[in-house]
Amino acid sequence: MTDNILACRVGSVELANPLIAASGTFGFGREAAALYDPACWGGICSKGLTLRERLGNATPRVAESACGMLNSVGLQNPGLAYFMQNELPFMAGLGPRVIANAAGHSTEDYLSIVEGLAADPRVEVIELNLSCPNVAEGCMSIGTDPRQIRLLVEQLRPLTTKPLWVKLTPNVTSIATAAMAAEAAGADAISLVNTFLAMRIDIRSRRPILANNTGGLSGPAIKPIALRMVHDVYQAVKIPVVGMGGIASAEDVIEFMLAGATAVQLGTAQLVHPYLPMQILEELPPLLQELGFSRISEVTGQLKTY
Ligand code: SIN
Repeated sequence: MTDNILACRVGSVELANPLIAASGTFGFGREAAALYDPACWGGICSKGLTLRERLGNATPRVAESACGMLNSVGLQNPGLAYFMQNELPFMAGLGPRVIANAAGHSTEDYLSIVEGLAADPRVEVIELNLSCPNVAEGCMSIGTDPRQIRLLVEQLRPLTTKPLWVKLTPNVTSIATAAMAAEAAGADAISLVNTFLAMRIDIRSRRPILANNTGGLSGPAIKPIALRMVHDVYQAVKIPVVGMGGIASAEDVIEFMLAGATAVQLGTAQLVHPYLPMQILEELPPLLQELGFSRISEVTGQLKTY
């Protein structure tokens, strides 16, 4: 058996490589599977799941921006029951670790969703979405308040022995404080960052381009801020950090891991270049060798600050 130098672990979760398809950029894997074998990923994360089906926000809900894009999708998804019956079997058959992203409008919602996901052995990780900026209740409104983060995660923790990752919003003054609240409540890992609340304007109509007025900015434009936040959180907590925010190359993966990430999520860049995970996986081994690392897991936290 050959040694897999890209293998890593996020707490108890072993990944064949550090690349995870980010929630909302991969659906449930069906579109990717029509193009390539999604088994290449270390993990795949579902679209944000709510208790009931959601059609999402009014269109237009995507707008391009320099080096990035805004989305105001509004958690369009088929709802928990449909997911469990129709999408989870497909996702679980793809091979990578299955991560379900759980979004709620209220504490009761989160309790029901986590309970539902916890009951199925095919769900390997639950990622709590405390960060979507495109819905009026739940998600980001909880994730911007460390007290609410702690209260919610404390209530969800006893419902499952599965790893609970908390996905944080960057739209806060101190992301480290938010991460510490999640850790204190029993989170197993912190995923960060989700999108930055943003806006674009059509100067002729004088209207926002997005029908929701605002949306979340993602893509390479946010990478330096996301990196700084990953590093802040890495220094503040003992649990693993899953980094994301504009990753589009093998070099970007290494940057995030040096800053403290144990694994990373690829999102927006996949929309431009669907074959990106395979390209990055080819480029990582020679890059590791060039940088003097013998395995990817050695990279985490090796940043030398001044
Ligand atoms: C959305 O569906 O509006 C985006 C999801 C997210 O930011 O978590």
